[in-house]
Amino acid sequence: RKVAVIMAGGRGTRFWPRSRGARPKQFLAMVGEETLLNATVSRLSPSFLPGDIYIVTTEELAAETRRMLPQLPPGNVLVEPEGRNTAPCLALALAVIESRTPDGVMVVLSADSWIGDKDKFLEDIDTAVHHAAGKRDLVVFGIRPTYPETGYGYIETEGKGKVLGASAFREKPTYDKAVEYLESGRHFWNAGMFVWTLQDLRAELTRHCPEILAPLDEWMAAGADPARLAQAYGRLPKLSIDYALMEKSDRVAVVPAHFRWSDVGSWPAVVEFHESDAAGNVVQGDVILLESNNCAVFGGKRLIAGSGLEDLIVVDEPDALLLCRKDRAQDVKTIVERLSAMG
Ligand code: GDD
Ligand code: MG
Repeated sequence: RKVAVIMAGGRGTRFWPRSRGARPKQFLAMVGEETLLNATVSRLSPSFLPGDIYIVTTEELAAETRRMLPQLPPGNVLVEPEGRNTAPCLALALAVIESRTPDGVMVVLSADSWIGDKDKFLEDIDTAVHHAAGKRDLVVFGIRPTYPETGYGYIETEGKGKVLGASAFREKPTYDKAVEYLESGRHFWNAGMFVWTLQDLRAELTRHCPEILAPLDEWMAAGADPARLAQAYGRLPKLSIDYALMEKSDRVAVVPAHFRWSDVGSWPAVVEFHESDAAGNVVQGDVILLESNNCAVFGGKRLIAGSGLEDLIVVDEPDALLLCRKDRAQDVKTIVERLSAMG
């Protein structure tokens, strides 16, 4: 029996001003009509029954998450008292799901990525589930790297076939290392999705990061009182599963993905998904552009007009306006940091 666990507690600061603390990227329809979270859930049918799909999110986002996903049992939305990165998020999922489906295979997904080719995606999931259940490895999906991204994990693979062995997992390498991995031809990007049996997740965490299990095991043993979770949670290290487990385990396997994937990580990545006009402009809403090239204008409620603009991203919201050169889109994160420092 396989269960899906969707990690959906991230903040998505690179999409300001459209994303905010209480309205992160996964709640937005960044690509297409559906929100990224809804698309992540829809993509799982008919392979997974609603009762076998879990969402892990933070207290702040839980009510909206349940409202957006009425098809799921409310108890399948697991609530973290606070976000402490993905290792605690998955340790909580493990503790809760073990008590319901102890011999299950867990398929971990991110709420905020885009995936093309749903059928191929579900086929690759089945390959991974089969391998995890039989060979007892921790399985990830490998994406062929196209540029030296430093924000992803890289897996060095060996062998041939539908499932490859992994000799190393390196999370967020330096730029020089990323260039080396890109050129090696043997490295894949980690798509941020994981498949493992509950038993193997527990065994490997016990081996490599036991401090992430103990507080939650004590909480479960004491009756799993939601009111007391915050106390246990505060003792968990703030770590991503990539550092806590994937870099350390020697039981990692890779399914090279047959589906198209994007983590929709920044405004330029979103622009890529939209049809541009002859001048390379992408516009949404009420927009007039004269002699402008390669611009993206995501309008809001009012008319926007521009002339002679080049390589500009414009995002209009009632209370904030972003103007950003395309090659400076990563600065949006810094803007948000500056804003939160100002209070
Ligand atoms: N519930 C919960 N709690 N979810 C979280 C938390 C948390 O504290 N932190 C992050 N998430 C969710 C995010 O919403 C996202 O869906 C997913 O977990 C991954 O978190 P990111 O913060 O976006 O991770 P990343 O992009 O830095 O790196 C991961 O993804 C890359 C691919 O996009 C790693 O797995 C990399 O190795 C991978 O290449
Ligand atoms: Mg990410």
